[in-house]
Amino acid sequence: MRKTAIVTGGSRGIGFGIALELAKHGYNIAILDVNDLEDPSRPDYKENMAKLEAAGAEYLYQKGDTRTAADRESFVKAVVERFGEIDVLVNNAGVAPKIRLDMLETTEESFDFVVGTVLKGTMFMTQLVANQMLKQPWDPEKEPKRGTIINIGSASATVSSTNRVEYCVAKSGLMMLTTCYADRLAAEGIMVHELRPGVIDTDMTKVVHEKYTRLIAEGQFPIARWGTPEDLGKVARLVCDDDFVYTTGNYIDVDGGFHIRRL
Ligand SMILES: NC(=O)c1ccc[n+]([C@@H]2O[C@H](COP(=O)([O-])OP(=O)(O)OC[C@H]3O[C@@H](n4cnc5c(N)ncnc54)[C@H](O)[C@@H]3O)[C@@H](O)[C@H]2O)c1
Repeated sequence: MRKTAIVTGGSRGIGFGIALELAKHGYNIAILDVNDLEDPSRPDYKENMAKLEAAGAEYLYQKGDTRTAADRESFVKAVVERFGEIDVLVNNAGVAPKIRLDMLETTEESFDFVVGTVLKGTMFMTQLVANQMLKQPWDPEKEPKRGTIINIGSASATVSSTNRVEYCVAKSGLMMLTTCYADRLAAEGIMVHELRPGVIDTDMTKVVHEKYTRLIAEGQFPIARWGTPEDLGKVARLVCDDDFVYTTGNYIDVDGGFHIRRL
């Protein structure tokens, strides 16, 4: 029987990379995303859903915003009605500032947009899904864990960028959210992890593509290539595995070794 994984922001990019990998490994997929599947300028969204089906998964796609309580609640209700239980939650939906501004100029609007998405959306989506997981029957003698929650963090949790402070503090806060949920849910059999991407080739990094391509060519990254959504998908799949059970509240850098300090 297939398990069920929720991936927020799963229409494209890293979220879709994780959704596809989980679809290939026995999960049905539920996606909450602000994007419209019928957007004529983005045929790739529908093509991506077809790829989930081709991998053998059923999918449920709901257009909605993780920052909005009504959207979260109607989505989780729809997922449970459709698939019965939720096994995995991937809090991937995230945004960068629409305009990068020096922190002495950053607006409250941009702060609310980024922190609201990364932190508030993750906080309350996790609360809703964790409470649903706790209602589901679980026999610790037979199943090593009840559920897995993955937060998609960022190297920006610890690396300063003074022209996108709202993103840095949001991802830094996400690190503690991972810690607190891991602490709260460990005894309940729900393991909570953070995956920390480096530079991954997606829509989000289009604006800095040239810069990072140059840095990679100059040897700044020990594994000298762009990261891909598939790289994140593969690690997410491993973390969801029942063998990955005596670990919670940690982060894993998925960054080609970019975090390594060198002399
Ligand atoms: N690309 C990178 O190099 C990189 C590096 C570090 C961390 N990340 C993180 O990875 C995650 C995915 O980013 P990506 O690179 O795939 O970017 P992306 O822009 O391609 O994907 C983000 C997805 O989230 C959706 N989304 C945004 N806000 C939402 C909301 N409030 N509710 C529902 N859906 C929402 C978007 O519509 C989109 O489908 C983000 O959390 C991002 O911060 C990315």
